[in-house]
Amino acid sequence: MDVQAPLGTEDILPEQALLWQRVEAAARALFARYGYGEIRTPVFEDTRLFVRSIGEATDIVEKEMYSFGSAEESFTLRPEATAPVVRAYLEHNLHKSKSFQKLYYIGPMFRHERPQAGRKRQFHQIGVEAIGATDPLLDAEVIALACHFFDELGLSGYRVRLNAIGTPQSRGSYRDLIKAELTAQAEKLCGDCRRRIDRNVFRVLDCKVESCIAITRKLPRILDHLPEAERTHFARVCKALHSAHVAFVEDAYLVRGFDYYTATVFEITHSALGAQDALCGGGRYDNLISDLGGPPLGAVGFALGCERLLMAIQASSAAPEPAPLDVYIVTIGDAARQAAFGHLTALRRAGLAADTDYEGRSPKAQMRSANKLRARFTLPLGDDELASGVLKVKNMATGEEAPLADIPAVIRKVREWEGAGAGGVDINP
Ligand code: HAM
Repeated sequence: MDVQAPLGTEDILPEQALLWQRVEAAARALFARYGYGEIRTPVFEDTRLFVRSIGEATDIVEKEMYSFGSAEESFTLRPEATAPVVRAYLEHNLHKSKSFQKLYYIGPMFRHERPQAGRKRQFHQIGVEAIGATDPLLDAEVIALACHFFDELGLSGYRVRLNAIGTPQSRGSYRDLIKAELTAQAEKLCGDCRRRIDRNVFRVLDCKVESCIAITRKLPRILDHLPEAERTHFARVCKALHSAHVAFVEDAYLVRGFDYYTATVFEITHSALGAQDALCGGGRYDNLISDLGGPPLGAVGFALGCERLLMAIQASSAAPEPAPLDVYIVTIGDAARQAAFGHLTALRRAGLAADTDYEGRSPKAQMRSANKLRARFTLPLGDDELASGVLKVKNMATGEEAPLADIPAVIRKVREWEGAGAGGVDINP
């Protein structure tokens, strides 16, 4: 077939999906412990939501949005979920019932970027948004949560970078200052940065081109130009992270590609990721709720990229194996295959992982399948068993065989063997 998955998208096949499931389940369990509840928003939104929140002069809004519809009614596949979560928070008046909400999401995002390793056009994020408070301890909490999550997954080698970027008002004097400096040295900057001086000068700080880095690293630090209250906020975040033993480095030149950030911004990178080394990014966005028509409430959050997280995990640990099978029914002949189907259903309804052959293969080939699936018990079923009515279940670990009268007796025996340590899988009673 000449039709393939679109460039920058990926099929996740069952073997790979095991790792996705593990990561998602770990996120759900951990986020619940921190008091976050799940929110699911549509994968597309009114385009105006992203233009207003992310900002017109950002890379995402300028060139990476998948938009469709008409001039009167334009929709965009969500490039991120912070703005949609705030939209939902306001639309459902959550600020009126309980203004402080801790929310998390897991799902696909879409950006029309040039695909490369770790950079997709459809990718997945796991993110949290804590809406309704300005406490610096909350900034520290979301950073600590991201690190805790990586630790739970056994991921090491990540690095937290932290900065404060103030508000559009409070960073005004710094903006003017670096604008003047950069304009004076414009001919040494890359073409993109020369344009950024007027469009969005802070993005120059984030440029990865060597000649631009050489210039920006000599600029004054933004933190030194922020009002005292904002410097105190940042100091409190740092102090809280120290007290939680979360390692981080201050990076005076860290800025993020969204206009909505105020105060704290952070990124978590991983060395195994290559050029696209950002595993997670986030920060505080105290103006977004009011910018979208809500009350003046603070908020902070992060999102991590699942594809990149999986790359980092795979670079450092072995792939997980599927759970072993409980029972494999080995059939000999047509009548047995027919009878096996009912038994199989009964075993599965009892909570056991059970399987059989659907390809009409020899008993020997079926045994090979049973071994491959790491079946702990087998149940051979042929003319003899059908005639005698005796089911002989075999414990593959011990070689022991038990003749039993019916499937309920098989289920009891399997549970008895599993309880005695032949297995490890938790079977519901
Ligand atoms: P972001 O930094 O744009 O932030 O994305 C967060 C993470 O998503 C990145 O660190 C990266 O791992 C992953 N990611 C981004 N773009 C791609 C891509 N094209 N392919 C693969 N992975 C990608 C946000 O989206 C903010 N909404 C985060 C946030 C939440 N801030 C506050 N709350």
